[in-house]
Amino acid sequence: MQWCHHPIHFCYLIPTLSLSHTSTLPSIFIHFAFSALVWVAVDKKEIMVLMGLIHTFLNLTAPPFTFVFLCLFLPPYWAFMFFHSTLNSIFNTENIAGKVVLITGASSGIGEHLAYEYAKRGARLALCARRENQLREVADTARDYGSPDVITIRADVSTVEDCRRLVDETVNHFGRLDHLVNNAGISGVSTFEETTDVTNLRPIMDINFWGSVYTTHYAVPHLKDTKGKIVVLSSASAWLPAPRHTVYNASKAALLSMYETLRVEFGPQTHITIVTPGYIESEITQGKYLQRAGKIVFDQDTRDAQVGPVPVGTVTSCAKSIVNSTLRGDRYLTEPSWFSMTHIWKVLCPELLEWSYRMFYMSRTGTPATEAPSKKILDFNGVKKVLYPESIQSHEVKVE
Ligand SMILES: NC(=O)c1ccc[n+]([C@@H]2O[C@H](COP(=O)([O-])OP(=O)(O)OC[C@H]3O[C@@H](n4cnc5c(N)ncnc54)[C@H](OP(=O)(O)O)[C@@H]3O)[C@@H](O)[C@H]2O)c1
Repeated sequence: MQWCHHPIHFCYLIPTLSLSHTSTLPSIFIHFAFSALVWVAVDKKEIMVLMGLIHTFLNLTAPPFTFVFLCLFLPPYWAFMFFHSTLNSIFNTENIAGKVVLITGASSGIGEHLAYEYAKRGARLALCARRENQLREVADTARDYGSPDVITIRADVSTVEDCRRLVDETVNHFGRLDHLVNNAGISGVSTFEETTDVTNLRPIMDINFWGSVYTTHYAVPHLKDTKGKIVVLSSASAWLPAPRHTVYNASKAALLSMYETLRVEFGPQTHITIVTPGYIESEITQGKYLQRAGKIVFDQDTRDAQVGPVPVGTVTSCAKSIVNSTLRGDRYLTEPSWFSMTHIWKVLCPELLEWSYRMFYMSRTGTPATEAPSKKILDFNGVKKVLYPESIQSHEVKVE
């Protein structure tokens, strides 16, 4: 009876059983006859040959089919999507006034400015981070911008218990939750090989990935009640192989994959906007990094090598775009928008992208990151002044 353990037999059973509910008598008969034939006659060897033939057929036909299909399908599809998103932005933009938004990582950078943008539109806010004094200052400014009610919650998103409390306190205070913004994050900066204790990089995954997962887990039942939305701060580094950001890049790629899959599981009831910024002014681009010894440091020389001569976007316009995009129900947003072209480079010629990163962003073995050509180009007179906003050229940092 060994043959009946082969998965392919079960594959024939499933359509047979489902067909028996829906089809006409002759088709049920043919289907049962065919299934019986396969069940009895085909042995393991023949099945393997059949599987091999199926794969060979697909290997030969899938590429030309995909090419021809995309050539025919893409023009009308893009026209439809453009039409749909234009109509959506005119007639379907959500009014967030009075609704409740929970933002993690609201004490600085993008999260702080998201709080201001939501406040300007009259949303009630729950702001979370670890630095309480910074949070209180952000909350005061958000009230000045027009938010009718703001609470601050001190929480570390890498702790599952804190994430549960964060959502509970928000819902207990406001009675509902409309938007969850998973923004809290940190960045690391060391090559894989120079990180002698690799466990020092764990907080990057714990905060960036698991922090979003935990918070989303507790928020989803409340978001379903309000047909709410989720915003997640991934990054263009989800597809860009920027060196010294190994685990950071992986954490952002994990977020991208996780929330794309959640979209399928949730369906249209719970909208998800995945944000993939390039470089935006914040404490991270000011040079705040988790270094290989496991400590958070401010290192603007390494930041210069890391970002190099790439223009850094302003945080105000980034936050405004994120909120507008979310209210329209967009699925993705890359900010600054020109950065989305890097995705095309990645898909069409990944070798070139890897070569460029190696060429410009790596220093010679045994020399510090600051020896990389990216920093040397940036050090040309005046380049940094034009490409970097003033705030990230400053050495002043918010500490508590
Ligand atoms: N700036 C960019 O160029 C850029 C590009 C792509 C993606 N992003 C992403 O955008 C998000 C915001 O970063 P940012 O650039 O605005 O940097 P930022 O100014 O350093 O802000 C990070 C925020 O996360 C909070 N945070 C860090 N660890 C936390 C923890 N364990 N629990 C709770 N909150 C925590 C920080 O607050 P506390 O320290 O007070 O806890 C801070 O409010 C991050 O996910 C980042 O990866 C940024």
